[in-house]
Amino acid sequence: MTTEPSWTPLVTAAAVEPGGIVDAELGDIDVVVWRAATGRLCVMDARCPHQWSHLGAEGVVDGDEIVCCAHGWRFELDGSGWKQNMAGRRDRKSDIDVFACDVRDGTVWATAAPPATSEHHD
Ligand code: FES
Repeated sequence: MTTEPSWTPLVTAAAVEPGGIVDAELGDIDVVVWRAATGRLCVMDARCPHQWSHLGAEGVVDGDEIVCCAHGWRFELDGSGWKQNMAGRRDRKSDIDVFACDVRDGTVWATAAPPATSEHHD
């Protein structure tokens, strides 16, 4: 038997402007809701997999990535982790959990399940 994942309302979509990061809770998981410069929304684990800095406090959005300013790891909308040096060289780092999200009636909803595709919502 397959059970539908449960969805949780997190924040109003208007509260997350491009480049914005808002703290939220998805059940017992601390998450951040952030919006890329292109306008795409992402619901992501709040804790950086490097040394657990909270991305709501240490994160900044850079284009389509969120950067943990503690040591410079950066994460794409699909959770892929990278470190980029001053010359632009990118090295793979640990990934971070990303959760499926949707905007319904102006509210960002998410489920603890991973996104079915790499699709993200505006
Ligand atoms: S804790 Fe985030 S990069 Fe080190």
